[in-house]
Amino acid sequence: MEKIYIVGGKRLLGDVRVSGSKNGTLAIMAGALLAKGTTILEDTPCIGDIQTMVEMLQQLGVHARMLGKNRVEIDATEIKNCEAPYDLVKKMRASFCVTGPILARCGYARVPMPGGCDIGARPVDFHVKGLQALGATVNIEHGYVEAEADKLHGAPVYLDFPSAGATQHIMTVACLAEGITRIENAALEPEVVGLANFLIAMGAKISGAGTGTIEIEGVKELRGINYKVIPDRMEAGTLAIAAGITRGEIVLSNVTSEHCTAVFQKLQETGIHVFQGPDFVSIKADARPLATDVKTMPHPGFPTDMQQPFSAMLAVADGTSVVSENVYERRFRYVAELQRMGAEIVQEGRTAIIKGVPKLTGAEVTASDLRAGAALIVAGLAAEGRSEISGLEHVDRGYEDIMGKLASLGADIVRMGIPPEAAVKLA
Ligand code: UD1
Repeated sequence: MEKIYIVGGKRLLGDVRVSGSKNGTLAIMAGALLAKGTTILEDTPCIGDIQTMVEMLQQLGVHARMLGKNRVEIDATEIKNCEAPYDLVKKMRASFCVTGPILARCGYARVPMPGGCDIGARPVDFHVKGLQALGATVNIEHGYVEAEADKLHGAPVYLDFPSAGATQHIMTVACLAEGITRIENAALEPEVVGLANFLIAMGAKISGAGTGTIEIEGVKELRGINYKVIPDRMEAGTLAIAAGITRGEIVLSNVTSEHCTAVFQKLQETGIHVFQGPDFVSIKADARPLATDVKTMPHPGFPTDMQQPFSAMLAVADGTSVVSENVYERRFRYVAELQRMGAEIVQEGRTAIIKGVPKLTGAEVTASDLRAGAALIVAGLAAEGRSEISGLEHVDRGYEDIMGKLASLGADIVRMGIPPEAAVKLA
């Protein structure tokens, strides 16, 4: 089994470039299915989830491939297969968002109910309601969602919760539905705006992305384009937190600061200095962080994805912090692992009470999901002695070369053993 080994206590110092957005790229790759012609995506992160999405598009009979590490080519002029394979959808929830585009192009789609990180109930009812509102007949049987429609038409769609995935999915499929679709209580996430900009560049008519009401006027067809994806605000946040916990001083380039406002402001509340430039941010920490309370919420609230690494930092803060998880109820599965490292955390339901300790101690720990992995890496960077982190298949899904980036900033970190994929083959 492959593990990351970290000897904690090194200050992170230096400059590092943040990769393109995982979630932004995945949504756009599904959106690219709408167009006839070639789309080239630039600055896509080289991570497991993008590879999975490329394989998914290939299984649909679409021409899709990586062009080197950070470019993806997609030509969906032909979609030969309207059924998505279970093996790929179960790995990654975002792949469910191919349903609408396949339906819009082919009149029929059969896609398994999705999997992905085990962080709580992850229903797709908003997605399904959206497809039905646009005129699809949807049957859910034998673990598959089967959608059919001779013709899609625009409609009002109200979301009970501003779901990022459902907003992106419905906005995408509405681009080829006749007439006007209005999504109310739409998600405000930067990845929604990134996807809207991509679809508009392909010829879609969308207004209001980034607000709670998005209006889409259907068009007959869309064209392939070249497009650069937005920076990954979760990677930027993770590296900023890592600098904070190690009392480091780093400069992150390729960052859109306004996408990270909640995380940067909360870092400032803990006494960490954050200077936001036009496309870079510098982080400087010279003392133990102060405790602060965190409540996760949809954007522009504090992102649920940053709750875990931020909590790892609060585990060594001066004082007691209360962290409330309002989006995904099981995003506390890293708590038991942090406790193995000496953290004093009491978790009840959706709340964790974190009593900061002066220092954590290195231990053998396992990542249960992507951001839990980020939390354990952050903790290991500050812990006394050696930490061994397994469960790297989760980390590889979403962070491009996180080990190399941290090592370049001076962390004492190595990765050794048999890579997760090879270990699965051997088992
Ligand atoms: C996306 C991100 C994920 C992030 C999450 C919240 C991707 C690939 N993933 O996930 O990293 O943690 O946003 O910011 O972009 N819900 C329903 N019914 C639905 C859809 C969602 O009840 O049909 C609920 C979910 O259970 C959850 C909440 O809505 O409680 C938010 O989920 P959503 O914003 O849809 O998350 P994802 O798009 O899956």
